[in-house]
Amino acid sequence: MNALPFDFTGRHVFVAGGSSGINFGIAQGFARAGANVSIISRSADKVASAVAQLQAGGAHAFGTPADVRQPEAVQQALQAAADRFGPIDVLVSGAAGNFLASALDLSPNAFKTVVDIDLMGSFHVARFAHPHLRQPGACVIQISASQAFTPTPFQAHVCAAKAGVDMLTQVLAMEWGPQGIRVNSIVPGPIADTEGLKRLAPTEDTLAAMAQRVPLRRLGRTEDIARMAMLLASDWGSYITGAIIPVDGGLALTGPRDFSAAAAASKRERA
Ligand code: HXC
Ligand code: NAP
Repeated sequence: MNALPFDFTGRHVFVAGGSSGINFGIAQGFARAGANVSIISRSADKVASAVAQLQAGGAHAFGTPADVRQPEAVQQALQAAADRFGPIDVLVSGAAGNFLASALDLSPNAFKTVVDIDLMGSFHVARFAHPHLRQPGACVIQISASQAFTPTPFQAHVCAAKAGVDMLTQVLAMEWGPQGIRVNSIVPGPIADTEGLKRLAPTEDTLAAMAQRVPLRRLGRTEDIARMAMLLASDWGSYITGAIIPVDGGLALTGPRDFSAAAAASKRERA
């Protein structure tokens, strides 16, 4: 990233699901802008490696393993982060899981697993972060997906979960607005070199087709999402709340994508 127009020196940014991909890119963006960054995710190794990378870049960083499906673990992690860096100025909630499967190929537990991670996890993170959020002034950013508003075959579980996440964003924006807490969703487009995109476009050909479908004719970069997160959290975003903001090169305008070939390949692999 070039010289940053944002300065978050001394601010505390907590990123749930921050050990890889888009969320790690957001953590890095804020860290480079001077923030103290806390992250959680399930894997202790991934958390340690992400924290080491942030520290190697000169940031104050803290991380602890926690599964967002477990409310007590989330509570403990938030308390530990607040003990370390104080009240949370920016809460980013982006832990998620995905795979391609038709509704009839989803066991009840498969559907529930994604709803538990994406939707229940987002609720746990927001609910238990609230006592630690700086009031007034905190900014909550939920990482959604276009599946929230575009009905997408082979993504029933993700569509249901992310639609819930965006509704949670809007209700919390109304309930917490009077306390000076803003709540918004970012809807990333297809972001290069991420696990999420690998699962939906697993081959060079499908990746190229995805990029070709984007009105701006390129895949996104994690920096694209980090910049929107920083804009929202900065003074420039101070009158924005309850918004669902696509950062996707226009892809959401193009309707549902056809994942049937990738879904069939994924089903063959699991058989
Ligand atoms: C059908 C599947 C499946 C598949 C798992 N399951 N994969 N069903 N097709 N491909 C079923 C399992 O059989 C099981 O049901 C249930 O789901 C839970 O699986 P587990 O492996 O036990 O769950 P867990 O270990 O908790 O792992 C969660 C996970 C996994 C979601 C299944 O893939 C994961 O950890 N993902 C995190 C990383 C990730 O997905 N990143 C991408 C985020 S992108 P049964 O009935 O057998 O018990 C994203 C999408 C946004 O969120 C859009 C992108 C453009
Ligand atoms: P990713 O690298 O797999 O990121 C998911 C993160 O969440 C990881 O750090 C993972 O770490 C963590 N996580 C997963 N399950 C968890 C749980 N139960 N508890 C705590 N942490 C958990 O994938 P990504 O593609 O960058 O996706 C990041 C976000 O962007 C997601 O919200 C996704 O829906 C959204 N998104 C992505 C794209 C895309 O193109 N990639 C497009 C639209 C939206 P652990 O494995 O250590 O838990």
